[in-house]
Amino acid sequence: MHKDIIIALDFPSGAEALSFLDRFHAGEKPYVKIGMELFYAEGPDMVRKIKDRGHKIFLDLKLHDIPNTVKRAMGVLSRLDVDMVNLHAAGASEMMRAALEGLTRPDGTRPLLIAVTQLTSTDPQTLKNELLIDLPMEEAVLSYAKNAAASGLDGVVCSPLEAAGVKAACGGGFFTVTPGVRFADGDAGDQKRVMTPERAGTSGCDYLVMGRPITQAEDPVAAYRRAVREFIGE
Ligand code: C5P
Repeated sequence: MHKDIIIALDFPSGAEALSFLDRFHAGEKPYVKIGMELFYAEGPDMVRKIKDRGHKIFLDLKLHDIPNTVKRAMGVLSRLDVDMVNLHAAGASEMMRAALEGLTRPDGTRPLLIAVTQLTSTDPQTLKNELLIDLPMEEAVLSYAKNAAASGLDGVVCSPLEAAGVKAACGGGFFTVTPGVRFADGDAGDQKRVMTPERAGTSGCDYLVMGRPITQAEDPVAAYRRAVREFIGE
């Protein structure tokens, strides 16, 4: 399983995202995540521009709709040549299978497809009182992860603290993409349940999504290299 750091390009405009990427040396091409903010601001052209520069892209749009709509939307995203896309496992198995079908290109290739289990902003009270799921959070997450695996998806987004449990339940080849990562001497900000890159490296995490600890660092390139070094040991 390939391990990597994915930088969350949480910038309000394409100009800011591109000037951030300009700071990296030619030949150093970090894996990046484009989320709703940047995608809605700049559209698919931004995806093409960043792809043309040689970056791998996780397009984090978290699709959730009826199976036919998600299938057709995934068909459009597959033509963008991104490397990873996602959806909400709450859309259930039929939607996840339709998404996979839509994402598969005529030549049989497709981006990786992963599922959001429970948003890390959902606390146990909200799970019980608003979503009416009367299970401990960990069990709810694992149940959604198992549905995603049974539907043929490649992995899930989860907290680094849940990654080992997901691996145990769904198999080592089912991969985990984990936000909520902070350097030992860093500021947690609004992330509540955090882990260092070093610990994440031995806790079943395959891809770490890191935003502010890299994008807001005084020297983002040095922060990125530190994250890679601590996580992968290179
Ligand atoms: O700046 P920070 O490292 O907290 O950024 C984490 C990134 O991961 C953000 O883009 C955030 O939207 C995303 N994310 C998250 N928690 C989730 C899913 C995505 O923090 N459960």
